Amino acid sequence: MKEYLKKLPPEIKEFISLAGKISKETRMPAYLVGGFVRDLLLGKKNFDLDIAVEGSGILFSEKLAKRLGSGIRIHERFGTATLILKGRLKVDIATARKERYPCCAALPVVSQGSLMEDLMRRDFTINAMAFGIGQGQEQKLIDPFGGRRDLAQGKIRILHDLSFKDDPTRILRAIRFQQRFGFRIEHKTLLLLKEAANSDLLHKVNVHRIRDELILMLKEDDPLKQIKALYSLAGLSFISPKLKPGKATYDLFKAIDKEIAWFTKKFPGRRHLDTWVIYLAALLEPLGLAEVKRICRSLALRNGEEKRIVSFRQSGPRVIVSLMKKGISPSRIYSLLEPLSYETIILLAAVSKNRYCREYIADFLEIYNGMRLYVSGHDLHGLGILPGPVYQKIFAKVLAAKLNAKVSTYEDELALIRRLIKCPGANVLKKQ
Ligand code: CTP
Repeated sequence: MKEYLKKLPPEIKEFISLAGKISKETRMPAYLVGGFVRDLLLGKKNFDLDIAVEGSGILFSEKLAKRLGSGIRIHERFGTATLILKGRLKVDIATARKERYPCCAALPVVSQGSLMEDLMRRDFTINAMAFGIGQGQEQKLIDPFGGRRDLAQGKIRILHDLSFKDDPTRILRAIRFQQRFGFRIEHKTLLLLKEAANSDLLHKVNVHRIRDELILMLKEDDPLKQIKALYSLAGLSFISPKLKPGKATYDLFKAIDKEIAWFTKKFPGRRHLDTWVIYLAALLEPLGLAEVKRICRSLALRNGEEKRIVSFRQSGPRVIVSLMKKGISPSRIYSLLEPLSYETIILLAAVSKNRYCREYIADFLEIYNGMRLYVSGHDLHGLGILPGPVYQKIFAKVLAAKLNAKVSTYEDELALIRRLIKCPGANVLKKQ
């Protein structure tokens, strides 16, 4: 294992060494577990560290945080803690625990346990390995279910036959890891996965857990592959029985890939895109507005997420039709696109195959959306205009003129405002 550790970034090596010291001082065996160990063996970068502690995860975290001088968020009820660190490292620490599932798809009853019991409750062999970092098992790989062999053979395998019944979100997780790593789902695991998917177990799971797993799938490098595999292996009726993606949806996913690549290359650091929102809106694109709203609610999406998905369904077709004409003024383009989120706009660009529409969207993102006025509220006040909603109206008019190249300098903008307030009926704008 030493050769794997050597390749880790220095900040992780230092962290592991300190955690090892704390483990020895407190005489509490501590282990790296889960995805970090899997990725360590695969040689893939991972800055999310999960540590399981035999003893008290909270006590261990408090000592570690004190030594690091870092913040800590404790979840007393679950015996877990998250260190608040600067930089890329994310560390979750938990007391090793065992789980018992009272019935299918229900939340497990959790109690303190040994490392072995902690590994036993996990989803797949490749995620059920541990790496000793301190007291007792230092620098030893603990692999009771043959995870290392399955990694080498590219296999996703559950630990026991009831795994999908206990936790049906593992249906989505198996497919996600299969597609991410290009692995195969082992024969018996696949049979049990299909059986669990066909018995509608996903309907019984807490919606937040389904939502989170679906979002993780759509955040993977290739969401198209993920959704295709999910549809073919488990179906999508747990989202909506009406959801039956075909060539049109898959082509739309490919078009979105291109638009996102273009956007991120063209505007590095402009704004973080919630790309999964775009893909989810695309997946729901063939459905009617009422069904889209129902799905957003049944997946318990957050308000802003639902808004972006619904706004595409609601205004998308109208905006596209308006943008398909030649020679539309920049101010009109701005007024159509400015109220929409970047996610919605990227999706519009992907949906539209019309040349003008795509050019207008590019112009909006490249030029119009970044255009700023020289005049400010201070200038309006100086002209004797009473502050109020009218300021926004004036700014909008000046911006429209600027977008259409009717004004360019500070003086032009001021002159336009003077003309506007001289218009009949505009006297009310002035101070009494
Ligand atoms: N786990 C599980 N069953 C679940 C969710 C998680 O057994 N339904 C276990 C797995 O051992 C997993 C670990 O908890 O490795 C951490 O979960 P998570 O952070 O979701 O997964 P990672 O394996 O770290 O995957 P990723 O690389 O996507 O973060």
